[in-house]
Amino acid sequence: MKPEKEWIEEAKRNAALEAVKHVKDNFVIGLGSGSTAAYAIEEIGIKMKRGQIRVLAVPTSYQARTLAVKHEIPMTTLEEHPMLDLTIDGADQIDDELNLIKGMGGALAREKIVAFASKKLVIVADERKKVKFLGENNHPVPIEVLPFAAPIVMHKIKGIQGKPTLREGNRKVGPVITDNGNVIIDTNFGLVHEPAELEPKLKTIPGVVETGLFVRMANIVYVGERSGVRKLGEKD
Ligand code: A5P
Repeated sequence: MKPEKEWIEEAKRNAALEAVKHVKDNFVIGLGSGSTAAYAIEEIGIKMKRGQIRVLAVPTSYQARTLAVKHEIPMTTLEEHPMLDLTIDGADQIDDELNLIKGMGGALAREKIVAFASKKLVIVADERKKVKFLGENNHPVPIEVLPFAAPIVMHKIKGIQGKPTLREGNRKVGPVITDNGNVIIDTNFGLVHEPAELEPKLKTIPGVVETGLFVRMANIVYVGERSGVRKLGEKD
């Protein structure tokens, strides 16, 4: 049996390769963030070099932009293309209804904007991300917040039974600052049975920029497994 590290990377890559099959010539696409979406970006670059497709891309993060440059994928903006054909992105958790938790990479705000601008959102993940209910295994919901509002947002979150933690840097002291200059409050809500009810409660707190709850946004999820890829959502 393959070591876990190895099959997980293969599973991520296989899911990403399936997703890239949805990218057609002349598409304007959103490029997601994280290690699984990175495989999709690489594959899009390969297909472009082979002359199989031409695309224009809107990156969802500094990381995605850097990868687009590396793989020579031409970029555009939402000003020029407010409507995208397709976005391929990763996820941290996926429930049975294809609701998602995103944002462990801190890119949730732009990811949600780009997903919202897209006709189709295709999610790629390895099987560890598939859960019955969001919040399983004490997984937090990342919430991007204006730094000025962080104390009051944390206070309000406690009022709706959340356990908030300001995300700290890894090799930097102090909070993580997003690509938008904000902080992230990772909040444990236990099991999230009704993400569609929780999301508006969070969004109406002044200072909350965006939440990592992506409710009914994903059209297709490719789950990379130990052997093969499982497709969830839209049927062929
Ligand atoms: C970035 O903010 C996230 O939403 C990522 O898409 C998510 O964390 C998945 O990342 P991995 O594919 O690296 O697990």
